[in-house]
Amino acid sequence: MSKQDTHFINIFSLVIGILVAIAIAIFALARNVASHTQDVDVRAEAQYLKSVDGRIQPFAQEAVAGQDNTRLAIKTDTAAAAATGGSAAIPKDGAEVFQQTCSVCHGQGIAGAPKAGDRAAWAPRIAKGKAVLYQHALQGFQGTSGVMPPKGGRVDLPDDLIKAAVDHMVGMAQ
Ligand code: HEC
Repeated sequence: MSKQDTHFINIFSLVIGILVAIAIAIFALARNVASHTQDVDVRAEAQYLKSVDGRIQPFAQEAVAGQDNTRLAIKTDTAAAAATGGSAAIPKDGAEVFQQTCSVCHGQGIAGAPKAGDRAAWAPRIAKGKAVLYQHALQGFQGTSGVMPPKGGRVDLPDDLIKAAVDHMVGMAQ
């Protein structure tokens, strides 16, 4: 190796060494600054805290008689769903009952259910009179084409809502 080469390698190593030292210094500085700013912000961020809170919640919560159950009230949607055996929340009118529940079978005419809006399928049923249809919707009905479960499975719903849903479906077929 010539003297010139040795000189080059020395300078080259020195430059690389300085660059590595600078990189490490910048890294350390960035970590240091972040620990005072970014990390703190992220950990204090409301959305983040909420998501952590959600993740560390117990699977189920029970209301205990005689104790303060107000915490449970926040999750009314979930509580309502739990009370109805996991079904959707309480609908407000016949159209909503139809969409949430009845349409599962009557929407496409599944399992022998008369398809909503199908006049030919509904005409002979409508001819039985509303009172019969109400009764069959409320108490369930086993006809020739299939099984209509009581209240379409939503036994938690009040009779009036089910009747409103019958009215809605009858209306669709007229
Ligand atoms: C699990 C499927 C299913 C769901 C959900 C369902 N139905 Fe039915 N429904 C049927 C079947 C099947 C029939 C036809 C029974 C037959 O005539 O053999 C039927 C028939 C009916 C009839 C006609 C009864 C008659 O006397 O001809 C009415 C009214 C009715 N359903 C209302 C409803 C309402 C209201 C809901 C929602 C609250 C609902 N159904 C949800 C399956 C279902």
